[in-house]
Amino acid sequence: MISDFKECKFLIDYVENYCPNLLTWKEFADLINIRPLLTQERVKLLDPKKRIFKWYTHGWMKDVNTYPPSLIRSLLDEIVIYLSDMSRSTKNINDFASFLEDQYERHIDAHIYVCRDPNIEHPFAAHFDMQHNVIVQCEGKTNFKVWKEVEDHSIEKQIQLDMSNEEPILDVIMEVGDAIWIPRYYPHQAISLTPRLSVSFPFNDTENTAHKDHFEDRNWVTL
Ligand SMILES: [Fe+2]
Repeated sequence: MISDFKECKFLIDYVENYCPNLLTWKEFADLINIRPLLTQERVKLLDPKKRIFKWYTHGWMKDVNTYPPSLIRSLLDEIVIYLSDMSRSTKNINDFASFLEDQYERHIDAHIYVCRDPNIEHPFAAHFDMQHNVIVQCEGKTNFKVWKEVEDHSIEKQIQLDMSNEEPILDVIMEVGDAIWIPRYYPHQAISLTPRLSVSFPFNDTENTAHKDHFEDRNWVTL
């Protein structure tokens, strides 16, 4: 079996206006109006109350496990929501994912994060991820703090971090178009300063890069 586990060089960074025009509120609203996209697997409700929602369905629906767009709209006033598996959701997001795939030789996903009210308590305090992440601010402003890599990489430690006495190595206010590179195991915290829309592009450090056929189809269809 062919395998080629290359090391991935991925360093912490922050660049202003790196990727302008990635996604607007209007484009995001267009996406959540497409009900078949709103599957329960894709739409992640970061609901501190962990509510379960039910809705009426009709005979034409191919997937009854899709949230009604008006429910998502009203939940956006209360909680932070993100949508995963969105790397082909718009041409610009697809193009940026393709650019990162060429650069890092990794399969890249796109998660769209939405916080419509900065007073909503963000469910993730300081935490670290198991993947590298490139995050692009699309609307609004977010304060990002990043701390140096933790020694304990265990899952139990991932969200149980107290960084209050630690000095961050990066502390920036991200504005539209700004991008930040957060390596895996680096604790970070995002605090929305205004309503905000951002897209994060996670990918694994280790991946068998010998087989490109498992990468997403990045051709963009036009007619
Ligand atoms: Fe994170």
